[in-house]
Amino acid sequence: MIVNEEIMKYIGVHLPERSELMQRMEQEALAEHIPIIQPSSAQLLYMLVRMQKPRTIFEIGTAIGYSTLWLTKAAPEATIYSIDINGEWQARAHQALTEAGVREHVTLFNEDATLDPFSQWQTPPSFDFIFMDAAKGQYIRFMELYLPYLVTDGVILTDNVLHHGLVTETHFYNRRKRQLVERIQKFNDYLANHPILESSWIPIGDGMVLSMRRRSTK
Ligand SMILES: C[S@@+](CC[C@H](N)C(=O)[O-])C[C@H]1O[C@@H](n2cnc3c(N)ncnc32)[C@H](O)[C@@H]1O
Repeated sequence: MIVNEEIMKYIGVHLPERSELMQRMEQEALAEHIPIIQPSSAQLLYMLVRMQKPRTIFEIGTAIGYSTLWLTKAAPEATIYSIDINGEWQARAHQALTEAGVREHVTLFNEDATLDPFSQWQTPPSFDFIFMDAAKGQYIRFMELYLPYLVTDGVILTDNVLHHGLVTETHFYNRRKRQLVERIQKFNDYLANHPILESSWIPIGDGMVLSMRRRSTK
């Protein structure tokens, strides 16, 4: 927990009530240990999308479609692409989006996001907003792959960048944990020094970073 528990609870009671479907998905995710965005972070994602009014959104990490539903709610007119390597979870996302009546707004890719699915397209897409929430150890790779598709002034919101507050730790008893934390630290350093992205870190939920593309790479 990054922010103390009492503050998190305090923020939690001030969040608007979620739909019955969203609440059900939150309960299922909790019961089945499916990692979904925390409601306080989802509300921030929703607000940012509402403010930016993107026409095209790319989500990396669909899972069961919980955050995808937030995106459809925030930008009902947008074209949304969402990718996940886990076909079982994405099938559930398909069901949830269908139940919410928004399935036709979302193109689901059941693929590995480290292999750019758009590279084969004759006309490459362009995104106004990217929500990055998959394989934290691959964040730099995702950024290098998908940043070229982001328009100038486009926004990328990345989740889990403070990783339960462990990014400030220096001693780990678990090697895998240390490696993951080091990769997240590298990603944060990479963003801080990025030539065409401006970023702001937000200690909400598991830690988010908001980045904006300031000029063309070309
Ligand atoms: C934190 S969950 C996404 C949660 C979702 N955004 C939400 O809040 O409802 C991370 C997801 O990334 C997916 N994932 C992990 N590695 C991936 C990869 N290389 N390509 C695509 N998806 C990947 C996992 O299968 C998992 O569903």
